[in-house]
Amino acid sequence: MLHQRQRWSVCALRLFDLSRHQALAGCAITQTMPYSKLPKLMPPDLDNTLKTFLEFAQPLQTYQDFEKTKKLTQEFVKSGEAQTLHELLVDRAEKLNNWLTPWWLNIAYLQARTPLPIITSPGVAFPPLEYSGEEGQIATAAKMIQAALNYHHKIISDHLPEDKAGKVPFDMSQYKFLFGTTRVPKLVQDEIVYGASKPKFAQHILVTRNGHTFYFPVYDQNDIVLGTDVLEGLIRDYVIPNSQTRVSHPVNLVSSDDRDTWAKLYEKLKKRNPQEIQAYEDALFILSLDSQVPVNPDRNRYEEQMRQQLTGGGADENGINRWFDKTLQFNIGFDGYSGLTYEHTPAEGPPVANLMDNVCSRFESNTFVKESSNEPVDVPRELKFNVDQSDEDVIAGSAAALNRAAFDLEVRFLSFREFGKNVPKKAKLSPDSFIQMAFQVAHYRLHHILPPTYETATLRKFSEGRTDTIRLPNPVSALFTKTFVDNRENQSAKELAKLFRDAVTSHKNYSVRAMLGQGIDRHLLGLRLIASEKGIDAPKLFSGDAYRKMTHFRVSTSQVPTRFVIPMGFGPSAPDCYGICYNPQEDAIHFTLSAFNSCKETSAKKFAAELERVLNDFKTLLEDSGDLSNAKL
Ligand code: COA
Repeated sequence: MLHQRQRWSVCALRLFDLSRHQALAGCAITQTMPYSKLPKLMPPDLDNTLKTFLEFAQPLQTYQDFEKTKKLTQEFVKSGEAQTLHELLVDRAEKLNNWLTPWWLNIAYLQARTPLPIITSPGVAFPPLEYSGEEGQIATAAKMIQAALNYHHKIISDHLPEDKAGKVPFDMSQYKFLFGTTRVPKLVQDEIVYGASKPKFAQHILVTRNGHTFYFPVYDQNDIVLGTDVLEGLIRDYVIPNSQTRVSHPVNLVSSDDRDTWAKLYEKLKKRNPQEIQAYEDALFILSLDSQVPVNPDRNRYEEQMRQQLTGGGADENGINRWFDKTLQFNIGFDGYSGLTYEHTPAEGPPVANLMDNVCSRFESNTFVKESSNEPVDVPRELKFNVDQSDEDVIAGSAAALNRAAFDLEVRFLSFREFGKNVPKKAKLSPDSFIQMAFQVAHYRLHHILPPTYETATLRKFSEGRTDTIRLPNPVSALFTKTFVDNRENQSAKELAKLFRDAVTSHKNYSVRAMLGQGIDRHLLGLRLIASEKGIDAPKLFSGDAYRKMTHFRVSTSQVPTRFVIPMGFGPSAPDCYGICYNPQEDAIHFTLSAFNSCKETSAKKFAAELERVLNDFKTLLEDSGDLSNAKL
């Protein structure tokens, strides 16, 4: 079998005649990037996993409950159950290129019946762009189309520089899944249809406005991307005049509903309007021309911008323009505030963030091709669906559900500018672990609970790798958090700083371990899944108090760094959870925080305020203890 990269290269050449895209400005194709052959992920050591499981369980449990957990773990080992399941897992790993990823796609995404917005689809916000009104929106849309296609050409021709952690190369396959990809709703389990697996990429995108959706060509008859003048003309002549009023029964809205509801209607639509559905599934991406929306006085402009990317603001605002199944949906706001809604199944945040950075670079350098030498391959046409009364009822139900979800979501944006990665680095501490400890302390100060916390660890060091979990609290972080909040006055700055350094280091050590494929969360998940696959009863450990507590996250986080200020955001993973996406830069840290209004205990606004205080407190602690005294900031 060909190695993954070789398979892709063959695909790319067959699917795309590269020479035809060389005419696009800024995409000078000179040589391809050879991507590294990556090691295979194998299940980690069983004893280590179980030992570490107990370490993470201990701070979440009472003494008596922890004693029971120790017994359950011993029984799991003594019965031979753990070893049997582990060996079955190793066997699976030996047979597959990646034992985890196909399972993970099903469990984390395709089998979930919950709606995509807020729960799994992140939103991403561009920095404010200088435009306003309909003409500004049209011009920005044309540039966005060209910038995105330009990036797509870099992906399929293997011209993106290989991502790395230090010198260690990362798997690049997720990039290939971004364009032309759709998550097709199906009963029981959705299907992901990758653009790159089709004989040829589509030559169109979809443009939505006021709930109308248009098939929209983006190439000319010589397969060259259209100039911005032509793209603008097509929007002005076909899209704008045919989308002046809102669609009365927008089918798009049902893509925001639970997957079974959507799957049932989708089946009917596919039978009635197969060409329309095909146009949706094949489109390279969607571009929405959003309507102006009133900004609630309780939110700032950035918070409203993020809300639009996550939910379209609900069915009465721009929710009618979203088709949540599509991997990439660029949403062009009316007033300079644009962004992206992305369906998470095919890729993690960093490849999407890289795409956004590239689009921003293109806007900054303003290198767009204005003219086209040839006519477009086609003209835009509206995609309309036949709907009957029962479908209208489904659409009305989905509209109500999206409105409820959109108004239940609290989104806050904190751009912390007192310092960034520079302060922890000067104190010889990992910035990411420093920030994670700030989440622990902020949560404990607000709720007096040590929050089970999820952080994404990338497994892209491995072929086809996706993610594992870096988790807190651990016994060392718990000691610091409690001492810092409950018993600070009895400690000298030096003592406290030592506890802090130990906590940060313990988190960093586990992060490194997780990224090396030695994390416990996916290993335990694998043991659970292999039992179910082989018809073996689920081990009692997985119904115990510790495992239940450890998998009910109160803080769900991901770091997604970018060069420009491009915040990403996502919803909480449980009713009483905070969702936090953060972007540490050298001298600032940007946070997007979310919570549910319906949860009386949580408040993203209060968490943001507390987080700001904690970050400053940490810096003061390092100054007081002398850890920063020789550092030049
Ligand atoms: N002293 C001084 N500097 C240090 C340090 C120390 N003790 N520890 C780390 N640093 C430096 C690093 O060298 C690095 O320097 P750079 O900015 O020049 O590159 C910087 O601080 C950042 O390191 P750190 O904060 O430790 O984190 P990281 O960059 O290694 O990232 C993870 C850690 C876990 C966030 C990351 O590897 C990961 O897995 N990310 C997953 C992202 C993801 O998939 N998110 C999306 C989900 S949808």
